[in-house]
Amino acid sequence: MLQQHKDIIQMNKEGWNKVADQFFEGSLERLSYGSYAPTEEELNLLGTITNCAIVEVGCGSGHTLEYLAKRGARELWGVDLSGAQIETARQVVSKLDMPVVLIESPMEEMAELPENHFDKAVSIYALGWTVDLPRTLSHIHRSLKPGGIFVFSWEHPVHSVVEYSEDVLKFRRSYVSEGFERHEAWRGTPIVMHNRKVSTFINALIRAGFVIDAVIEESKVDEGDTVDPAKWYSGAKASLLPSTLIIKCHKSRAEGEPS
Ligand SMILES: C[S@@+](CC[C@H](N)C(=O)[O-])C[C@H]1O[C@@H](n2cnc3c(N)ncnc32)[C@H](O)[C@@H]1O
Repeated sequence: MLQQHKDIIQMNKEGWNKVADQFFEGSLERLSYGSYAPTEEELNLLGTITNCAIVEVGCGSGHTLEYLAKRGARELWGVDLSGAQIETARQVVSKLDMPVVLIESPMEEMAELPENHFDKAVSIYALGWTVDLPRTLSHIHRSLKPGGIFVFSWEHPVHSVVEYSEDVLKFRRSYVSEGFERHEAWRGTPIVMHNRKVSTFINALIRAGFVIDAVIEESKVDEGDTVDPAKWYSGAKASLLPSTLIIKCHKSRAEGEPS
């Protein structure tokens, strides 16, 4: 791995360990794909969970793993960069009556995931943190059984470039120029993000061998949602552009392979 990538991963790991407790949340009733996004209950992208082996990439505090266990998953694995997140996930899943494999690792280095093993992979607001999207996707693709599903959500790349200022929405940076961006005080700690276009995610999935099934850019703004457009996520902003990008894809089966 490039030294620059290693340095960014280390910085982001330290950042995530500091802010982990701002993200300890989840629901057993519904699976949220992100702010103002339709839920799994509305979209049914994952399909049947019962009896499935599932890996979550960037599992955070483990609440999605808990939700998947309650919906009947047979085997669960979670990978996360942050030791603080993995520790909380360990406490959350310890209450379940099934073993859950938790791995503290960058998603760029998930070589230890078993090959052709999982029925589904899921990643909620985590995939975009990778410093190496092709490498991360190749690990996920390799770990899925033929026909296995991958669903991920991430902040919509258009939402990321627009901010509210002086009563109007303005571009804070270019949508088309991609690459690393250092944020000196993201939630009070320095981190580095990688800016990518929607097409970059889609093309990387295709190159990794995935077949795209659905691309979702819908916003769900209910009456009573915050209308303060100055907030990073707000109903006002979400009614003009999507907050969240969700993509469902699958690993294709070889010719003649049983479904
Ligand atoms: C916004 S949180 C989402 C957590 C969880 N999926 C959820 O929905 O609550 C993003 C997670 O990605 C993890 N993360 C960031 N960079 C990562 C990387 N390079 N490899 C693995 N996990 C990473 C963070 O530690 C954090 O737990």
